Amino acid sequence: MPRQFFVGGNFKMNGSTESIKSIVNNLNSAKLDASTEVVISPPALYLPLTRELANEKLGVAAQNVFDKPNGAFTGEISVDQLKDINVNWTLVGHSERRVILKEGDEFIARKVKAAVEGGLGVIFCIGETLEEREANKTIEVVTRQLNAVAKELTKEQWAQVVIAYEPVWAIGTGKVATTEQAQEVHAAIRKWLHEAISAQASANTRIIYGGSVSEKNCRDLAKEADVDGFLVGGASLKPAFVDIVNSRL
Ligand code: PGA
Repeated sequence: MPRQFFVGGNFKMNGSTESIKSIVNNLNSAKLDASTEVVISPPALYLPLTRELANEKLGVAAQNVFDKPNGAFTGEISVDQLKDINVNWTLVGHSERRVILKEGDEFIARKVKAAVEGGLGVIFCIGETLEEREANKTIEVVTRQLNAVAKELTKEQWAQVVIAYEPVWAIGTGKVATTEQAQEVHAAIRKWLHEAISAQASANTRIIYGGSVSEKNCRDLAKEADVDGFLVGGASLKPAFVDIVNSRL
């Protein structure tokens, strides 16, 4: 079974009732590559609206989830609450949460575990900062981020995880990784999956690229052997998102 191409749209803290309705209606009526899995991720308060409006082919993801089932955790949302509104995916470990909100590897790993154990699909984000890349630490950093999650999951649970490689220096900057840079890290992640998890996880886990993906650069990136899709920020708010979903047509 080849890996199904996967395109996620991360709206981040953008949108209003009106604009999200318009984005979702646009996707509902667009001609999307049926062989690509599409998952959109609006801000938490628009999750019910998005899930109700989006057709059943579109997946919906939270941008974050907490690792505890319920209780006194002001401002947080649980796995069961997401499932209660038929949201079956969540992002975990986005660099904006790692860098701005200081989420650490272990906390992120616990969230991945809670989400996977609760039956959600997880878009698990990893990636190095510019400083780390310039110090030749890219592979070391992504390996550290991956190892933290590997400690929490069984080998089989990786089937619920999509790994999003998002170099921090490429996010929202217009500075996309070259196809060679993306492929090099994706291949290293696949090798890590083989060695640390299993041959099966290495063959089946989707590794998607994120960071300034646009309708202009997606086709070349999609041709790389280990690029199984994209996590799209800014461009997911625009009609160009359809072109990115259809980058292999
Ligand atoms: P960007 O964001 O496409 O706006 O660079 C990607 C992301 O943060 O997931």
